[in-house]
Amino acid sequence: MHAPVPEYDPERLLADAETFIRQCYTELDREDEIEGRIAEIESEIEETGHYEHTAAELEHGARMAWRNSNRCIGRLFWESLNVRDARDRSSAEGVYEELCEHLEYATNGGDIRPTITLFEPMVRGDQQVRIWNYQLIRYAGYETDDGVVGDPDSLEFTEYCQSKGWEGEGTDYDVLPLVIETTEEEPELFEVPEELVLEVPITHPDYAWFDELGLQWYAVPVVSNMRLEIGGLQYTAAPFNGWYMATEIAARNFGDEDRYDVLPEVADRLGLNTNRNRNLWKDEALVELNRAVLHSFERDGVKIVDHHTAAEQFEAFERREEAAGRDVTGDRSWLLPPMSSSTTHIFHKKYDNEINTPNFFYRPAPYEK
Ligand code: ARG
Repeated sequence: MHAPVPEYDPERLLADAETFIRQCYTELDREDEIEGRIAEIESEIEETGHYEHTAAELEHGARMAWRNSNRCIGRLFWESLNVRDARDRSSAEGVYEELCEHLEYATNGGDIRPTITLFEPMVRGDQQVRIWNYQLIRYAGYETDDGVVGDPDSLEFTEYCQSKGWEGEGTDYDVLPLVIETTEEEPELFEVPEELVLEVPITHPDYAWFDELGLQWYAVPVVSNMRLEIGGLQYTAAPFNGWYMATEIAARNFGDEDRYDVLPEVADRLGLNTNRNRNLWKDEALVELNRAVLHSFERDGVKIVDHHTAAEQFEAFERREEAAGRDVTGDRSWLLPPMSSSTTHIFHKKYDNEINTPNFFYRPAPYEK
């Protein structure tokens, strides 16, 4: 998961390529092409120290990476991942255009499409493109005299953007600019066009006062800071998205004390005594927040899943993988929803957290102090 970018080594590249090609082409029922393709890659690496994936390898490799993502509960849908090939866009402007198109395609008016856009991978150890944002759409966070405004998780990145001349409006929900690093230039900043940011105001199905909290969230989480490794190649810019599970927003982004931290206010409004742990005010506030998020996304026709349904889908994924003769790996602490976890089958099982490739890996943020 946290694994540094491996050092460039053409021998290892060939070995990793071979392993990937065998598995990929076997899964695609193209066994007869394996030896020929490996020979081709071998001479390509001998001549250039590098090789390029075909469109089919790229598509299936990216889908395998999702299937291998141990922390993801949504993996039932790995085969439906839409793979966009943007390897020919390497200027900051070109990358920016692709990211905008990704947002539009993935958002799809609320009928969210799981999508990944792949930019040129590292070539002989040299990085071509990197996106500094954690997600393509995310809210800024500002330190003020009255505490943090916005998302406290974005403080450092926001400061970096401000140091480059960006100015946010200073609300709780300012969309951060895109920061794109290429070989040619210093990282460049671009605003995300407003019309590409679908957002959902949070209201509650039963409590009219809920909208007075002024909560909102964006529709599509596009993780953009992870590297994707396929067949020994490092895709350092490979933003990908699915749709949200409501607990990610309601329990964690809104509920965590070091994020928007709204449980005390919600509990207050519900008329609960927040000085007594044993009246379970936090639990009740969590449930109402989750109902509000699910209700609001549904009201606006934006795709979202509740944690019970997501767990059932994950169970179906486990059955399908077993039928395909593959072991499911998983990180139980991440697969468990952050509330009501014992009501899901995941709670009652063990998971092997071995990391298979293709996969997504974290890197230290370039702006971190
Ligand atoms: N947990 C992250 C967030 O709240 C999103 C991570 C990806 N989630 C997803 N459903 N694909 O923004």
